[in-house]
Amino acid sequence: MKHLLSLEKLPRQDVELILAASAAMKAQRGRPSARLAGQTWALLFTKSSTRTRVSFEVGIRELGGGVLFLSASEAQLGRGEPIKDTARVLGRMIHGAVIRTFAQSDVEEFAQYARIPTINALTDEEHPCQILADIFTYQEKRGPISGRRVVFVGDGACNVALSWIFAAAKLGFELRIAAPRKFQPPADVLRRAGGNIVCTEDIRGAAEGADLLYTDVWVSMGKEAESAERLRDLAGYQINGALVKLAKPDALVMHCLPAYRGKEIDEATFEARAQTIFDQAENRLHCQKAILDWVVT
Ligand code: CP
Ligand code: NVA
Repeated sequence: MKHLLSLEKLPRQDVELILAASAAMKAQRGRPSARLAGQTWALLFTKSSTRTRVSFEVGIRELGGGVLFLSASEAQLGRGEPIKDTARVLGRMIHGAVIRTFAQSDVEEFAQYARIPTINALTDEEHPCQILADIFTYQEKRGPISGRRVVFVGDGACNVALSWIFAAAKLGFELRIAAPRKFQPPADVLRRAGGNIVCTEDIRGAAEGADLLYTDVWVSMGKEAESAERLRDLAGYQINGALVKLAKPDALVMHCLPAYRGKEIDEATFEARAQTIFDQAENRLHCQKAILDWVVT
């Protein structure tokens, strides 16, 4: 039985398989598929979502499966039923689960007890499906990411940044994280990941020679109580026209979305790079289908 719980635990060979399958899914979109025929999958979400929810719901249907969306606040989970009990019930009724929640340990516990393929659709620690789609998008436009310089700007300790960190050593690209000291990734994550990763407060130095400038929201879901402090501390860690000038002339600018203009990216840069950013969002669908195909193989 396979799961996609983190990029940290996903072997390079499987990353490569999913990336190749994403291209195939994109090329073959519209052709009927019975890959998940006879299966019902559940999306169990504790946090908001547009892209991840829609791409999984559409993706499961396009692969011939049935899908049901369960908001944790409406399920008994929201009233305190333990994850491991929810998992044992769902495991007897459905064929796979896609989970978005807070603790990484909850997704892992669900997979352990449900004993059905389980996919991490974002936790506080990782967003593996996002980074697979991001790398697919980069490679689709610019060729192999190996040997390239990826620069993440903003909250370097958030889930998206951490999944980039785990991807870097695996796929052999340089990753620079430009963030205030307090928002740099934990030392333990950097040690576990290995690879060529530089963490710095010097955003301009980091952006020099970048092949890809990437950012994410300053206030991730669950961190709303820290909003004022984050907006103050992260001010200046923005992708804007001046920063883009320091990157390579053909550098891409990407954003996992949702985007907050005037915070992590300025309006002009966002709109100038909208084609790439919305291709990136569309690729979530093709990549989710590749992940579903991989996880049931
Ligand atoms: N990027 C991303 O995961 O978007 P949603 O929160 O809308 O799913
Ligand atoms: N870091 C963001 C990603 C949103 C897709 C969050 O967790 O809210």
